[in-house]
Amino acid sequence: MNDWVNPLRDPEDRRLPRIAGPCGMVLFGVTGDLSRKKVMPAIYDLANRGLLPPGFSLTGFARRDWADEDFAQVVHDSVKQHARTEFREEVWKQLAEGFRFVPGNFDDDVAFNTLRRTIEELDEVRGTGGNHAFYLAIPPGFFGDVVGQLKEHGLAQPAAGSWRRVVVEKPFGHDLESARELNGILADVFPSGSIFRIDHYLGKETVQNILALRFANAMFEPIWNSNYVDHVQITMAEDIGIGGRAGYYDGIGAARDVIQNHLMQLMSLVAMEEPTSFDAESLRVEKLKLLSSVTLPRRLDLATARGQYAAGWQGGDQVVGFLEEEGVRKTSHTETYAAVTLHVDNRRWAGVPFYLRTGKRLGRRVTEVAVVFKPAPHLPFNKTATEELTHNALVIRIQPDEGMTIRFGSKVPGTAMEIRDVNMDFAYGGSFTESSAEAYERLILDVLLGDPPLFPRHAEVEKSWQILDPVLDHWAKKGRPDQYEAGTWGPPSADKMMARDGRVWRRP
Ligand code: BG6
Repeated sequence: MNDWVNPLRDPEDRRLPRIAGPCGMVLFGVTGDLSRKKVMPAIYDLANRGLLPPGFSLTGFARRDWADEDFAQVVHDSVKQHARTEFREEVWKQLAEGFRFVPGNFDDDVAFNTLRRTIEELDEVRGTGGNHAFYLAIPPGFFGDVVGQLKEHGLAQPAAGSWRRVVVEKPFGHDLESARELNGILADVFPSGSIFRIDHYLGKETVQNILALRFANAMFEPIWNSNYVDHVQITMAEDIGIGGRAGYYDGIGAARDVIQNHLMQLMSLVAMEEPTSFDAESLRVEKLKLLSSVTLPRRLDLATARGQYAAGWQGGDQVVGFLEEEGVRKTSHTETYAAVTLHVDNRRWAGVPFYLRTGKRLGRRVTEVAVVFKPAPHLPFNKTATEELTHNALVIRIQPDEGMTIRFGSKVPGTAMEIRDVNMDFAYGGSFTESSAEAYERLILDVLLGDPPLFPRHAEVEKSWQILDPVLDHWAKKGRPDQYEAGTWGPPSADKMMARDGRVWRRP
């Protein structure tokens, strides 16, 4: 554990900035998109906000013939292009002094010996205190090789009073079995408290705010159940296609990429019971209990939908279909749109379907949770007065345009009684002056602090696969997914899925 105590920080006072103690990070996969677009900029942003220790060190490891300066240049370019905060020369200079690069393959013993020596040198010259996080921004097929090498070369084992942690990115497997295997590989080398699985949705302010909304207020929880809630829609829509990620995405698809992790984590936070505290263990217990109550409808053909985007128009541009994207197999059955109906078999949610959907090349980029309420039990108006009234709804806007909307009926001004939907709005920008940090800033800082509540535990990951596996098996038997035109809201089968339940998808 980290023995370093920041004298300025009362550990009980969560309002004070949380600053990481002496430490360093080793980044595997420095040439990948994730490192360049998210990890490196987040590290700079943390340094710029004064949240990293002065001697923080970043060591890149990759199969490249680079010197430290070449690596520094790569980080520099990534920061310039993607950092959230302004570029400050003095911050950059101090940070860059801690950059090192170790060239090598994952099976190269000499390289891992060099890595060990590099870390020892950093402990000496930068005062990193033996505290190091190993960030595996690499395909999961290599996790075994890398953690095996870390173990072999004595890198996984901390000296007394210091820590070693491993950070892994999704996909955490492609089904229950492979997820178990992956967890086994990690657990072989690192104790569970030292394994940090990143689900970057949990690093988003708006996602954490679900807990504040539900458990810091009196007015929502009494109606947060099947007496009042008709159904819940969780949407993560993207307007982008797969970009240059065919190698990763083809064969994975929308359900594995997003539903198994981000959307099921969102659902857990929306539906779970109140945890006894916000420590990692209490949260895990509640999320796991919730996921254990989730069941699939019997008729998967009626309760799920999937699609593949075809060519179309997006924001005034003509775009190609999924099968025409570079690197995608021409006969691919990979879905780029997925929708599933889930039930929660417990007292609070019996009879309330949760509809989860995600897709690429949809009408616009939006992630939201919509809790849709039942109609009022009685309407003492004549029918025409409420013709335009729909269901009350509470919409948590995860992104963009972060905030919350409550939709309810209101009288239209005039001499007659006419009731129509109106929206009451909370927008982060209107209430807070601070802009939200990027999810990766929060999560990397938490890794360095050893603060685990925002990281899913292996049992949650496995439960989510257990829920999803039958859907994936069902789809695998069905051949090619339905097509939907780029820029629309998914395949007609998804609308039919809702229509069978007498409901409609929101058009955010
Ligand atoms: C990633 C998925 O986890 O989340 C991507 O692999 C997706 O396919 C991305 O584009 C979306 O993240 P965000 O934060 O932009 O919603």
